[in-house]
Amino acid sequence: MIHRLLALLLVVEWSSVPVQVAAQEHVHSKIAATPPVVSSNTRIAATAAGLRVFENQSSIPNTVEVRLTATPARLSLRPGTATDVYSYNGGVPGPTLEVREGDRVIVHFKNELPEATTVHWHGLHLPFDSDGSPFHPVAPGEEYEYAFTVRPGSAGTYWYHPHPNHETGIQVARGLYGAVIVRAADDPLPASLTEKLLILSDNRFLADGSLDVPELHSPRGRIDFENGREGDILFVNGEVMPTLSIRSGEIQRWRVINVSAGRYYRLSLPGHTMLHVGNDGGLFERPVEVSEILLASAERVELLVRGTGEPGSAAVLRALPYDRYIIQTRPSDWDRPRDLLRLQYTNEPAMTPVVLPKVLRPIPVLDTAEATGTRVMVLTQGFINSRVMDMSRVDVSASLGATEIWEVENLVGLDHPFHLHGFQFQVLDRDGVPELYRSWKDVVNVPKHQRARFIVRYENHAGKWMFHCHILDHEDHGMMGILEVK
Ligand code: C2O
Ligand code: CU
Ligand code: CU
Repeated sequence: MIHRLLALLLVVEWSSVPVQVAAQEHVHSKIAATPPVVSSNTRIAATAAGLRVFENQSSIPNTVEVRLTATPARLSLRPGTATDVYSYNGGVPGPTLEVREGDRVIVHFKNELPEATTVHWHGLHLPFDSDGSPFHPVAPGEEYEYAFTVRPGSAGTYWYHPHPNHETGIQVARGLYGAVIVRAADDPLPASLTEKLLILSDNRFLADGSLDVPELHSPRGRIDFENGREGDILFVNGEVMPTLSIRSGEIQRWRVINVSAGRYYRLSLPGHTMLHVGNDGGLFERPVEVSEILLASAERVELLVRGTGEPGSAAVLRALPYDRYIIQTRPSDWDRPRDLLRLQYTNEPAMTPVVLPKVLRPIPVLDTAEATGTRVMVLTQGFINSRVMDMSRVDVSASLGATEIWEVENLVGLDHPFHLHGFQFQVLDRDGVPELYRSWKDVVNVPKHQRARFIVRYENHAGKWMFHCHILDHEDHGMMGILEVK
């Protein structure tokens, strides 16, 4: 009850941060589109023009060396209008980075934006100076090299995005995000499955095509701060309502990434059930049959879609309503389902479904008996343990190799997706209810007035690692802390 009261009484304070940055008038020709490697489907290759893959410039085995440049560009995000955006290598979304476990990855990054930025490799286990956190800003005109070795066992779906102090949300809104796929040599799912990558984003525009980013202290700016900025236009791979095709009987492997600053997606494909096979840090031990999946900001899932529809029929992937909001700022149309993409069945006769493995891969248990401490994180609106982030303060200090439990409690009436850099964790329980199956995660949604516990081992990399709410408007205003591992 006290919690509920607090939620109602909380007054949020934030420092004045310049939100609007003048974009340079700078027109870039679109980089020649490389067909997405992950999709054998020509229709999606043709429609998902935004999905490009990095070209590996290295000929050394097990080495991936790529160039990444952040530049202003003028592109058509909303059909029919041009918008001044920020792009990675000239497009939105940025190119997909495809690597294998054990690969050495070197990213030569150049910042051609008129402001500082970083590239954060969300969810990857890598050295501190390659994390792209606010500790390593790249000034305009500067270059930076991100280098890491892809950890064995980390096959999964990740993403990259800017992470400069206070400006992450606006830079992501301007178009800076891209996918990372880590592949395993011994992937248990049949290689014959058609794979699709779906990057879910949303955005909001003014009539002239510019991004709708209200002044922070305006009433609408305040709503964006409370909820996380949501847009009325939903994109899949930078496109509005694209069509994917499937053959009757076919099983497809979908990797879904939520790059939205605030929007959650409660995914459902009416008429179909899905097999949920993986989370942020890769595959589960076995598939789980579900009728819907909730994806909080920054979360990823891998799922198998079974083409149980008739040849020639169609289905729509939807985001069902999910009430993550505090009542005072809940959008009036929050309960409206949203269409994301159309799944069109080909006219080919039904095929015999591929046989799926019952077991995917073992996930080592992080044993609570080995935990040497519990970190308690109390979330309120804009604060963690009543503080805002301070770059010169260490909030949690721990030794390299230690295993610890984090208990994250949300005292307010709005969900907060809690994220930790550098180390994947295992959720133990949510509101005391043990997690049904083990998986690797780097974001855990902590619903209103609930509590989640996870276990983590700080392996291999010393450094200062951010933990924060992944509603970008919250993170940018200091709902973040620093874990120092040494
Ligand atoms: Cu997507 Cu600090 O993270
Ligand atoms: Cu991260
Ligand atoms: Cu939050």
